Amino acid sequence: MLFSITIGNGYHIPRMFSRNIATLIKGTELANKIKSEVRNELINIRQTKPEFEPQFVAIAIGNNPASSIYLQRKQEAASYCGLKSKVIHFEDTISQKSLIDVINHTNKDPSIHGIIVQLPLPNHLCETTICNAVHPSKDVDGFTQTNLGKLMQKMSDSNMIPCTALAVKKIIESEGIETYGKTAVVIGRSHNVGLPIAIILGADKQKGGFDMTTVSCHRATPNETLASVCRNADIIVSAAGVPGLVDKTMVKPGACLIDVGLNRVKSETGKDIVRGDFNKNVSQVDCRLTPVPGGVGPCTVAFLMYNTLLAAKLQAGIMNQAE
Ligand SMILES: NC(=O)c1ccc[n+]([C@@H]2O[C@H](COP(=O)([O-])OP(=O)(O)OC[C@H]3O[C@@H](n4cnc5c(N)ncnc54)[C@H](O)[C@@H]3O)[C@@H](O)[C@H]2O)c1
Repeated sequence: MLFSITIGNGYHIPRMFSRNIATLIKGTELANKIKSEVRNELINIRQTKPEFEPQFVAIAIGNNPASSIYLQRKQEAASYCGLKSKVIHFEDTISQKSLIDVINHTNKDPSIHGIIVQLPLPNHLCETTICNAVHPSKDVDGFTQTNLGKLMQKMSDSNMIPCTALAVKKIIESEGIETYGKTAVVIGRSHNVGLPIAIILGADKQKGGFDMTTVSCHRATPNETLASVCRNADIIVSAAGVPGLVDKTMVKPGACLIDVGLNRVKSETGKDIVRGDFNKNVSQVDCRLTPVPGGVGPCTVAFLMYNTLLAAKLQAGIMNQAE
């Protein structure tokens, strides 16, 4: 849009201004809906089974300030839903063996239905080994090889799908976005976040997927390749953890942009703020966009509550595990 500004001598200088025209997808609304559903279902089950008390334990190692904030949000959500939750803290000097002993002990405790190991872990601990030590029936994060393997085969209602991937799935469904035969790009291929999202987008609808032609990009993808595949995409999910990685020149009008990235950066005034992977200027494209904060993050927390209730129902025999 062309505007002009007037300077002292009366001359008008034309200037280009761009309006923000993207539609924001309000993740907090979906998150509140999911948490209310969990809360109501729990109230209903307790009417006939008052002894049913789903509980998750979060294991936290070291003092990562971001992890402390995420743990607090998980505990607040649990309290709203009526779920029990507990955080066990360890120094970042804990050995791998001691940590696995704690997880094994928790695996055997029948009062605990879900176990979360808060990531990232200190370098001396092997993330894959630690995540796989959680019993698959209590793996409410969906990070074990058993639950990731099930996701590859089929997504049934009894699957423990990683919470962020489940959040992205439900955002796409709740927005009613057409996916069959369309093109998606997922930026980031971590086992816990990017890869499960790419699997869901590319999977057959019969298996719970979206039937999209899905391109997976990562740190070895050249910038020009990333830009060109993004320009073609109907859905772009970014889970790279690189602030401003995708800008408006890489987005086609009508696309849906799902920003998983949570990046702590300094604002112009020196304040600590959280930014996503999409440059703010993508708002100038006629697209749909999840904001950061207030997009995928609250939904991830809500689906952790959903998975905890699911785990407890399966363990109590209220629901059966699908084949
Ligand atoms: N919103 C949420 O609920 C939520 C949940 C989990 C993680 N996160 C955020 O998502 C981001 C990713 O998390 P993660 O655990 O998968 O991180 P990770 O470091 O394990 O993986 C990052 C991925 O991004 C890719 N990557 C890095 N730089 C890139 C670049 N310049 N171009 C293309 N790809 C690049 C890497 O190859 C890797 O696959 C982080 O910002 C994290 O904080 C958000």
